[in-house]
Amino acid sequence: MEARSLCMGVAAPLLLVLLLPLAPGSHWSAAAQTTVIAHRGASGYAPEHTLLAYDMAVRMGADYIEQDLQMTSDGVLVVMHDADLDRTARGPSRHCTGPVGEKTYEDILNCEVSSWRGEDLEALERVPTLDSVLTRYGSSTRYYIETKQPEHAPGMEEALLELLGRHDLVPSSPDDRTVLVQSFSSESLRKMHGLEPRLPLIQLIGASQMPDDIDAGMRDVASYAIGVGPTQRLVTPQFMSAAKRHGLLVHPYTVNAEGDMRRLIELGVDGMFTNFPDRLMSLRSPN
Ligand code: G3P
Ligand code: CA
Repeated sequence: MEARSLCMGVAAPLLLVLLLPLAPGSHWSAAAQTTVIAHRGASGYAPEHTLLAYDMAVRMGADYIEQDLQMTSDGVLVVMHDADLDRTARGPSRHCTGPVGEKTYEDILNCEVSSWRGEDLEALERVPTLDSVLTRYGSSTRYYIETKQPEHAPGMEEALLELLGRHDLVPSSPDDRTVLVQSFSSESLRKMHGLEPRLPLIQLIGASQMPDDIDAGMRDVASYAIGVGPTQRLVTPQFMSAAKRHGLLVHPYTVNAEGDMRRLIELGVDGMFTNFPDRLMSLRSPN
């Protein structure tokens, strides 16, 4: 009887621990740890990659603001999602249509990137340079910077590293996560890793980039990056196990619906990109 009680005494807490991740409501504790990445700023509320969208994200308390990088023909790093100006830039067409990589920074100064959504805004926003973003926000936030189509912008990695150095944002310790550099291009990330191994990197994984052998794919990523950023529908229990086996953070994109946020938190992701940082913030502090 004594032996049975002892056994039950050990087994009951153990059972509780094993069941805890599945228990109703347990996602609240996981949610509290979830990193909130403001995708293109608070782009659900303000035009993407504008100071307005970043200001809102910082005010909402997001952990990171995201920047997609493009490089002008004269080597200036600007923050814009598309390689072409056409979708979001407005202004004289000779300056504000076509590839960013074929314009000088002076050309791009003629364009604004806030009226395309048709909102009634007090002031028009220009295309921010990465330099201006780092200067404006300093240490008041953290930065999640993507090298976009880096194969069409030779020198983008070196220019990024030089800029981070000027802003004293190259990490001095492995725990420093003030800047994360992300890319769909493993070549770009391997190059960054070679140039500055202290810089924490995230390998983005698009829908068509899922490796056939997930475990081997994660092992490879872990040789140069600290995490993966999969499109949200790739995240399954199998995906999570493989990533965690190799010590990788998992930051899916782009998660805007609260139901999807909850599902991913229950699966154990470490953070997520969202256009609505306040939604994820409120899951993090439900009271
Ligand atoms: O960087 C994560 C996510 O933003 C990737 O997709 O196209 O929005 O840059 P995209
Ligand atoms: Ca991005």
